[in-house]
Amino acid sequence: MNAVPKTQTQTQTQTQTQTQTQTQTQTATALHVANLHAYYGESHILHGVSFEVKRGELITLLGRNGAGRTTTLKAILGLTGKRSGSIKINGNEAIGLASHKIARLGIGYCPEERGIFSSLSCEENLMLLPMVGKNGMSVDEIYSMFPNLKERRSSQGTRLSGGEQQMLAMARILRTGADILLLDEITEGLAPVIVQTLGRVIRELKAKGFTIIMVEQNFRFAAPLADRHYVMEHGKIAAVVEKHELAAKTAMLHEFLGV
Ligand SMILES: Nc1ncnc2c1ncn2[C@@H]1O[C@H](COP(=O)(O)OP(=O)(O)OP(=O)(O)O)[C@@H](O)[C@H]1O
Ligand SMILES: [Mg+2]
Repeated sequence: MNAVPKTQTQTQTQTQTQTQTQTQTQTATALHVANLHAYYGESHILHGVSFEVKRGELITLLGRNGAGRTTTLKAILGLTGKRSGSIKINGNEAIGLASHKIARLGIGYCPEERGIFSSLSCEENLMLLPMVGKNGMSVDEIYSMFPNLKERRSSQGTRLSGGEQQMLAMARILRTGADILLLDEITEGLAPVIVQTLGRVIRELKAKGFTIIMVEQNFRFAAPLADRHYVMEHGKIAAVVEKHELAAKTAMLHEFLGV
C-alpha cells in the first residue's frame, strides 16, 4: 500500500475539518442580517443593522419607541421601501426578493396589529396563510397548544378577545411551516394571565427548535426567554447583551430603555 506523505494527510484532514466546520456553521445560522439600511420613502430609518441568530435561538430587539425595531422586522420581510445590505434567511439571500418570495424561505411574521380578519371565523383565520414549509403544525397540534382557540374555533374574528386574537395570529404562522418567527410586541396590552400563557407557548416553541426574533417592550417577559438581547437606538444596534450578562448589565439596559 502506498503511504500517503504525512504532510498531505494532515492537509487533507485539516481541509475536511474546515469544510465540516463551515458547513455546520452555515446550517446553524437561521438568520443573518448584515449592514441593513432601510427607508420609508426618503426617510432613512435603519443605518447598518447587523445581527445573527442561530437555529433554535431566541433573541430580542429592545429599544425605546421609534428605535427601529418594527422597521427591522419589516425590512427583513421586504415590507419597507428601498433597503440595502444583506439578509440571509436559512442560507438564502433575501435582499433582492419580493415579499411573497421571502416568506417562502421559511419565515413567519406576527405583526403588532395582529391582522385578524373580523369577518372570518377563528378557524378560517387559522387556515388563511399559504404554506411556506413542509413541516407546518397540524390543526390538532395547534389546538393542543392553544386550547382556547379550539373552544372558539367557530367564533367570528371580532368576537375574540385581545389575547385570543394574539394567540390566533401566532397559531396562524405555525401552521404555515415557517421555522423562523418574527414576533412584534405580542404581549402588548394583554392581561398578566395571558402574558403567562404566551410565555409557556414561547418556551414550547423554543423546545421544538423554532428560531424566534421578538420585539418586546415587556422586558420582564423577554428576559428569561431570550438567549441574547439587541438594544436598538436611532436605527442601529447600540448594545448586545448575552443572557449570562443580564445581571451585570441591568443598569446599562435600564438607561438605554428608559425604564
Ligand atoms: N410607514 C412609515 N413611514 C415613515 N416613517 C415611519 C413609518 N413607520 C415608522 N416610521 C418611522 O421610523 C422610525 C422607526 O419606527 P419603528 O416603527 O421601527 O419603531 P419601533 O422601534 O418599532 O418603536 P414603536 O413600535 O414603539 O413605535 C420612527 O421614527 C418612525 O416614526
Ligand atoms: Mg414597533
